Formats: sequence, C-alpha cells, structure tokens
Amino acid sequence: MKINLEDNDESVINLSRSILVISTLFILVVGVFATVLFFRNTNFNFSPNQVSKSASKTGKVKNRVLANLWKAPSESTIPKGTKGEEILYGKELIVHTSKYLGPKGSVMAISNGMNCQNCHNDAGKKSFGLNLSAVASTYPQFKARSNTMVSISGRINGCFQRSLNGTKLDTTSKEMKAMVAYIKWLGQDVKKGVKPKNSGVEKLAFLDRAADPIKGKAVYLNNCVSCHGKNGEGLLAASGKEYTYPPLWGNNSYNDGAGLYRLSNFAGFVKNNMPFGINYENPLLTDEESWDVAAFVNSQPRPHKDQSKDWKQIDKKPFDFPFGPYADKFSEKQHKYGPFAPISESKKLKSNKKA
Ligand code: HEC
Ligand code: HEC
Repeated sequence: MKINLEDNDESVINLSRSILVISTLFILVVGVFATVLFFRNTNFNFSPNQVSKSASKTGKVKNRVLANLWKAPSESTIPKGTKGEEILYGKELIVHTSKYLGPKGSVMAISNGMNCQNCHNDAGKKSFGLNLSAVASTYPQFKARSNTMVSISGRINGCFQRSLNGTKLDTTSKEMKAMVAYIKWLGQDVKKGVKPKNSGVEKLAFLDRAADPIKGKAVYLNNCVSCHGKNGEGLLAASGKEYTYPPLWGNNSYNDGAGLYRLSNFAGFVKNNMPFGINYENPLLTDEESWDVAAFVNSQPRPHKDQSKDWKQIDKKPFDFPFGPYADKFSEKQHKYGPFAPISESKKLKSNKKA
C-alpha cells in the first residue's frame, strides 16, 4: 500500500512538472509570436537609425557582413584645378540631376525630374545601392539589348531615355563629359574587366511562386506609402526642382523600358536600400516582401517606351524581361512576375547545349 502511494505521489509530481514546462514553453512561443507581429505591423516613423534598430530587434534578419567589398575613394583625392572641378560638377549632376536637366532645369530640360542619385544612391557609392563602381572597368562593352558596343556616355544616355524617361544628352556637352569624369574617378581603383561584388544590386534567390502584387500592396502600405505616397507620386521639394521622395509610378516616374521595371532589379534594390536609411548589413524587408512589393509597384501605370527595335536576338532577353516575343515557351506574365526558376533553368539548358 505504502509503496503504491509513494508511486502515485511521484507521478503526480511528474505530471505537474510537465504541465509547468509545457505552459512555460507555450507562453514563450506566444510571446515571441506577438513580438514579431507587433514589429511587422508597426508603421515606423522613419529615421534611418530607427529603422535599422527596429529591423535588428525583430530578429527577422541577421546582420550580414561581407569581406572585401568595394569602397569609393575619398573625395580628398580629387585633384585641384580644372580636372577636379569637372569631376565635382559630374558628381553634382548625378546628385541633383533635375536642378540642371529636369523639367525646370537651368541647363536644359531633357528629363523627368528624378535625379540619378534617386537610384544610384549616395552619388553612386553605396554598397548594393546600384553603385557605379563597375562602370569605368567594364565599359565600353557589348550590349545585347542594342546589339552594339556601348560607351559610358552611351550607357548614361540609356538611363536618361528610360530611368529618367527623357532624351539623350549630347555626348560632347560639358555635362556629359563631367559625369563620365566623375564615374571614371569613382571606379579608378577597380581593375580592368572586374565587377566588384557589391556593384549594382544584390541578386535575390527566386521565390518558388510568382511574385504577388496583392501581397506587395500590403508591404507598400506598411513600409513605403509614408514617403512615396498613395499614388506612388512621391513628394516634390519646396524648390519644385527635385524630389524629396521620388515617384515610383505615374507620369513622372521611370518608363517601362527602365532597369527597375524588371522585378529582379527592383527587388534587389529595395531589399538593401528601402525604406530609406537601411543598408545591406541590416535590411528590413525579407526577400519575399521585396519580390512582392516589386510586383505591386511595377503593376501600376507608368510611361511607355517603344522598345520594338531592342533585342535583335530574342534569346538574349533576361529571364525577367516583361515583353515578348521570346525564344522559350513561357508567357509574358510569367516573364514579368515569375516563377522565374523554370525560365532560368531552361535558359541554362539551352546555353549548355550550344556550348
Ligand atoms: C529609376 C532608377 C534609375 C535612375 C534615376 C538612373 N538609373 Fe542608371 N541604372 C539603373 C538601373 C536599375 C541600372 C542597372 C540596369 C541593368 O543593368 O539592367 C542602371 C545602370 C546604370 C549604369 C551602368 C552600370 C553598370 O554597372 O553597368 C550607368 C553608368 C548608369 N546607370 C548611370 C546613370 C546616370 C548617370 C543617371 C542619371 C542621368 C542614372 N543612371 C539614372 C537605374 C537608374
Ligand atoms: C523614409 C522615406 C522612404 C520610405 C519609407 C521609402 N522610401 Fe524609397 N526612397 C526614398 C528616398 C529619399 C529615395 C531617393 C534616395 C536618394 O535620392 O538618395 C527613394 C528611392 C526609391 C526608389 C528609386 C527611385 C524611384 O523613385 O524609383 C525606389 C524604387 C524606392 N525608393 C522604393 C521604395 C519602396 C518599395 C519602399 C517600401 C519598401 C520605399 N521606397 C520606402 C525614401 C523612402
């Protein structure tokens, strides 16, 4: 009898211990879940520092650090005299393009009001922020889109006609020469032919589904609308000559021939640079949110560019080029929104067969 009783006591104690452990675990899990939800749905009042702090607090993304990344040379190395003045004017044009070349530009009106820096952040110096480190080292280069060799000034004019929805700048003008001089100065330490790994934008892993504009709208309303506006219209500065927050769609934004109109470029850019103030080490959005918000923004109306003369060899179109005809069987919709893995796989198979 006695022995039985002791047995019972022990199992009662064991049972209550297990209940205690299970309920502690339960409370912990609910707590973590609630914290994550809280930070996801908080509409941050953005200041760059706040954003990166909050991003790390959620524990959603780890700090990422890469070794041996390209860094822009120090501006104290810009020579004195006319060469230096040219380089500094080139930088000024990249930072405040619209003041000189926008709709109310003091030199001429050839572009839509955006600045190069709106996309090529920090005067083209930012890691994974569409920096221009690889330009001096890799141009002139053959471009499949035009089926020609393209010089630095030719590539700049590509952005004038597409990203800035404007017209070409005369390649012999003081302004074009200055921008080329600045870009050459910026890339002076990069060896010929080398493309630094933090140039351009990060290539995000593909989703296993199509990017979703409806989910992307929710991301937009939570993280972007406070600066870029309900209609993606951005916010003009008091001067009326450039934007405090540049437009993401509508008449004053980049056209459908621009690099950002391709989802991989947009998602890679946004992941490491938006909301404004974040960087590669501490991103805020997940890859999934970046792809979805790219799908939302690029499903909104924007200026159209006639691209009928582009891509003489249609099999050279990038996997996410949104306009047919294509050399493969995938639809325009899939080329625009994904899933991209099957398209990319079929491109690889074809190029292996050719080799
Ligand atoms: C709306 C965003 C946007 C604006 C504004 C913009 N660009 Fe670009 N630019 C891009 C994107 C995206 C790419 C990469 C496109 C690609 O490779 O598919 C790019 C590529 C370039 C390149 C080639 C980079 C390389 O490594 O091959 C140069 C040079 C360049 N831009 C210069 C400029 C200049 C100068 C201006 C201003 C006159 C400007 N861009 C304005 C988005 C923009
Ligand atoms: C705190 C304000 C702010 C928020 C929030 C913000 N942005 Fe931006 N965004 C900017 C500024 C400022 C620039 C221009 C950067 C510069 O000129 O240095 C910019 C530039 C851009 C550009 C390139 C230029 C253009 O107009 O196409 C894109 C694309 C962009 N933002 C997308 C987004 C997306 C998507 C979100 C939400 C995930 C977002 N931004 C949230 C301020 C913000």
